[in-house]
Amino acid sequence: MDFIDEHLNHIKDKGLYRDFKFFTSSQSKYTSIDNRRVLLMASNNYLDLCADDRLKEAAEKAIYTYGVGSGGSRLITGSCKLHDQLEKKIADFKGAEAAIIFNTGYMANIGTITAISDQEWIIFSDELNHASIIDGCRLSGAKVVIYKHCNLDHLQEKIKIHQGKKRLIVTDGVFSMDGDIAPLDKIVELAKENKILTMVDDAHGTGVLGDNGAGSVEHFNLKGDIDIQVGTFSKALASEGGFVVGSKSLIEYLRHKARSFIYSTALSPVTIAVSLRSLDIVKNEREPRVKLLENSKWFQAKLRKLGFNVLESKTAIIALIIGNAAKARKLSEKLFEEGIFITAIRPPTVPDNTSRLRITLMSTHNRKDLKFALERLKKAGMELDVI
Ligand SMILES: Cc1ncc(COP(=O)(O)O)c(C=O)c1O
Repeated sequence: MDFIDEHLNHIKDKGLYRDFKFFTSSQSKYTSIDNRRVLLMASNNYLDLCADDRLKEAAEKAIYTYGVGSGGSRLITGSCKLHDQLEKKIADFKGAEAAIIFNTGYMANIGTITAISDQEWIIFSDELNHASIIDGCRLSGAKVVIYKHCNLDHLQEKIKIHQGKKRLIVTDGVFSMDGDIAPLDKIVELAKENKILTMVDDAHGTGVLGDNGAGSVEHFNLKGDIDIQVGTFSKALASEGGFVVGSKSLIEYLRHKARSFIYSTALSPVTIAVSLRSLDIVKNEREPRVKLLENSKWFQAKLRKLGFNVLESKTAIIALIIGNAAKARKLSEKLFEEGIFITAIRPPTVPDNTSRLRITLMSTHNRKDLKFALERLKKAGMELDVI
């Protein structure tokens, strides 16, 4: 078992070792980690709903009606009425015919890609797609053709070279570590011209982008133009569980073919009840979304003014690029000492030499919070020669 210690020592030397931070209160903009109060700027809880009383009430009600466990996989004993309601509601929200719920977004991606494609397929995949897409592509056995990040010329070039009847373009809607939005309008054009299926994973667009919060597909006005839309209830919707929406036949097909759907115990009715309530809130409340995106624009401009290297983002995710992994970690630690929790994201989650602070904003962050964060970022950044 020497290889284990060798690996652990290697990642420690490279500044890539990871450990947990344990929350000791519910997760909101001010939260408690190891009993220490910090300003949270690292969570995917973009609309600050994780501790919302309305969601707690929905959970409580579901417990008293349905109990806590689901008792089996969806096709055996794991489906209660709430699962059915949520599938209908998410399909409607996304403007699709039907939906299927998976236990996580990760499982939705691997289950869908492996159900759809095999060795006869060619999958065009953005180089910065999420790990769950990458793993789905690998597991499927399809020929995977990687195109440069959001680069349509490169994608077009690859499409010309790799001809075939069974082809799929797959992309994140919002890139989880960079925060930018895929050019879905152009991708759809290319896909239609070349008769290629499209799949978009909108984990970070759902609840954040679009007039109704339906995500990047709504942002581009492309409802009905994407063949397969994946998402998760675990980010802005503050719950858990992945989903796929699309045509009725696609969803029926996945119910019979997606192994990560078939062979796993269903999500608890409690989780489903929370997602149901959360969807209502997100649909009906536009203001928090507007505030969130305003926060992001304002904060990015201020960071750039201070001299930080910040990627362009029109979402809640702000990538502050450091480069060196150990330095990124050190900056994150210093900020934690100053009362701010922002995680350092390092390889293999991001490419080598692009380690970063992944700052995520919430709709409830106000200017006072953000000014406090800027002041501490400036101090820590100067101490570490980042700015
Ligand atoms: C783009 C993307 N897709 C899928 C997932 C997986 O979703 P889940 O956390 O629900 O498994 C994530 C996040 O973890 C993600 O960022």
